[in-house]
Amino acid sequence: MIDTDFAFMGDYVLFSFGYYLSLRVSYIMRCAIFSRHGKVYHLDKYIIRGGNPLFGEVEISGAKNAAVAIIPAALMVEGVCRIENIPQISDADMLLTILSEMGAKVRTINKNTVEIDCTSVCREGAPYDLMRKIRASYYLIGAMLGRFGSAKTTMPGGCNFGVRPIDQHIKGMTALGAHVEVKGGFVYAEAPNGVLTGNKVYLDKVSVGATMNIMIAASKAQGKTTIENAAREPHIVDLANFLNSMGADVRGAGTDTIKIYGVEKLHGGTYTIIPDQIEAGTYMAAVAATGGEITIKNVIPKHLDCISAKLREMGVEIDEYPDYVVVRRMGKLTRANVKTQPYPGFPTDMQPQISTVLCLAEGTSVVTEGVWDNRYKYISELKKMGAEVQVDGKTAVIEGVPFLTGAPVAACDLRAGAAVVIAGLCAKGETVVEDVSYIERGYQDLVGKLNNLGADIVCVSEPDEYTSAVV
Ligand code: EPU
Repeated sequence: MIDTDFAFMGDYVLFSFGYYLSLRVSYIMRCAIFSRHGKVYHLDKYIIRGGNPLFGEVEISGAKNAAVAIIPAALMVEGVCRIENIPQISDADMLLTILSEMGAKVRTINKNTVEIDCTSVCREGAPYDLMRKIRASYYLIGAMLGRFGSAKTTMPGGCNFGVRPIDQHIKGMTALGAHVEVKGGFVYAEAPNGVLTGNKVYLDKVSVGATMNIMIAASKAQGKTTIENAAREPHIVDLANFLNSMGADVRGAGTDTIKIYGVEKLHGGTYTIIPDQIEAGTYMAAVAATGGEITIKNVIPKHLDCISAKLREMGVEIDEYPDYVVVRRMGKLTRANVKTQPYPGFPTDMQPQISTVLCLAEGTSVVTEGVWDNRYKYISELKKMGAEVQVDGKTAVIEGVPFLTGAPVAACDLRAGAAVVIAGLCAKGETVVEDVSYIERGYQDLVGKLNNLGADIVCVSEPDEYTSAVV
């Protein structure tokens, strides 16, 4: 018995260390790529030969925006937390590395399943250089406060589309009794005597991040917390289900009022992350743009309603089944107006992809961004490919053109990257997409999945002159 335990422990340590090492190597490589001498270098690019309609089947991975909250939330759990359907994306890798550096044992079971044991973690191990790189590191404020009674994190990084304040996160933590201070690029938070106390929090703005962060922290606060004007995205419900499966008591997720009854301890368990609504929507937009017919497997069709409704209005046919959808576009695309809103409205994370499709629809379409201040940077890239779009503040007026033409373009952020890839798929000629590391933050194997559907994309690693001299 003892031997077996030792053998298992040895295996465990070896696996954890192997996984940790591979993450560190990929992180160190990324650092070399992105931050050497403070300049940005681009190693990978996609070369897309456009014009192929898409046909076949594609499997959707786990939801990025659920995974990036659930991984930090695992910090609250004392015991082994087995998480299935984690997407293989760099943002999730980065968060797993952060937990490892804080002392968590992270064991890879297979490419989409990990076991995280945060029984003996320490706040001081937090790697601030990594935290600074991703937006979702803000969930560590709630998770550290809940676990240690105090937190020190960096201000979060992430895609840049205008001001991205965290005042509602701070409002929430303050309502739970924490003293929060932002100083010199760091966030410091301290609960009196290390204990948070449940309270009512009314969010001034519907915020996904603030809703989830407060849910995480309040899971271990003393008493009841009520979040009003809460966000309702599918990943909010997924986080609640994850926390509940580890012993928390969160009720009402998916509505605008969430009640959290604090518990003393969260225990280990197994949880499977939901499929990614936005990844599925991106493939729907891709086939709408190229024409063809694809089956998108491992989806929750209800989560796609807001996207399906708009695509149908544009002439795309969608057949829904319990866990897959068939998306077909054979005829012409029709113009449409789109306004992004918090769920169940049309998602802002699909705005660049749907706008790209509208570039090819007959007539004039108007797109209004209702969540972010500045999410149209990719339009200048689409214009290089022949798109006709005028942006005025939060509104883009799109005049449909018969076709786009391949050009060298850049991925300005994650979804902007998906948009230029879609544009490249339906453009005449060759499109070269630079800065694809943004895309790899949030899409598992985009190139492989699209090529399986008949696309022609080659991913090349081509260090520029300076990088090859120094890396
Ligand atoms: N806001 C505030 N104060 C806050 C927080 C947000 O004013 O304290 C404002 C924001 O400036 C924005 C709006 O509220 O205008 C909504 O922001 P939210 O907090 O909902 O966004 P987030 O949590 O920072 C997440 C996703 C984004 C997605 C938005 C909206 C993660 C890691 N990010 O960001 O995803 O666009 O919700 O759905 O979950 C993406 O996946 O490409 C992406 C950017």
